[in-house]
Amino acid sequence: MEEVSRVAKTQRFETRGSETQGSETQGSEATRPIVLGAAPAGATDSSSAARAVREMFTSIAPRYDVLNHVLSFNVDRLWWRRTARTFAHILAGPDTRILDLCCGTGDMTFALLKQAGRHDQQIVSADFSHAMLQRAYSKTCGKIEQNGNIAAPRWIEADALCLPFPRNHFNLVTSAFGFRNLADYDAGLREIARVLKPGGECGILDFSDPKGLMGRLYRIYFKQVLPQVGTMISGVRGPYAYLPNSVERFPQPEEMLDRMRRAGFREASWTPYTFGIAGLYRGKKD
Ligand SMILES: C[S@@+](CC[C@H](N)C(=O)[O-])C[C@H]1O[C@@H](n2cnc3c(N)ncnc32)[C@H](O)[C@@H]1O
Repeated sequence: MEEVSRVAKTQRFETRGSETQGSETQGSEATRPIVLGAAPAGATDSSSAARAVREMFTSIAPRYDVLNHVLSFNVDRLWWRRTARTFAHILAGPDTRILDLCCGTGDMTFALLKQAGRHDQQIVSADFSHAMLQRAYSKTCGKIEQNGNIAAPRWIEADALCLPFPRNHFNLVTSAFGFRNLADYDAGLREIARVLKPGGECGILDFSDPKGLMGRLYRIYFKQVLPQVGTMISGVRGPYAYLPNSVERFPQPEEMLDRMRRAGFREASWTPYTFGIAGLYRGKKD
């Protein structure tokens, strides 16, 4: 099994006139800001936003899994499994090519492999944080032993906005809790569409903003308790203050579905998970 491959270290960002990352430009609906992508504190453009995101995840990589499970009360495992089950029809097929984007320490990848339950699937998992990929790699042998007949993924260090794959290549592209961190959401969707085969599917699992009483209670936890516990356990302040901000900034489901359609996805849909705390966006490439 090869270790983490360093494929694409360079980043490509499109210049769009006066639009800069971190600032919110006015769209045709004069009152509604158009969010380009994630904007961690201090980022002034797409490159500095991406750099800040990468440094953030690199800094918490050693404790990422523990924190994830503690802060989500282990519900994250159910979300990965549910997402993998959704794509069982693709995972069951022969010669299927799968890409797990922003794979981090690999839990979405492992859920996909377990669901596929076979050793001939070609699954590639990409992330731009080397430290996160190293954690994923170190878990691989244990997961294969645990689950028997599953394939070994290829861990690739690459930027989701500039993927080192040809067009029309994958049957399925997933991304769990990673897409929200991209410096340019539309560019991210276009890149996913580019590497998918026609008729190929994408699944983007990410946090959302639950409504009603549950939403109000959840927001107290998410904005006040989670950043403090996260900071305490990780010993790093930035990432757990950034998390609720990034979710607040992320487009609402209707807007995200519009963006997916504009990027060339049909049958775009959103399925809420656990009262809408998270949800799965799906779409098929035209
Ligand atoms: C919250 S973690 C999610 C990891 C994993 N998918 C999971 O479900 O636990 C987000 C991951 O996205 C990666 N990421 C963010 N922006 C990226 C980009 N432009 N290219 C590649 N990876 C990116 C980060 O390095 C980080 O590992």
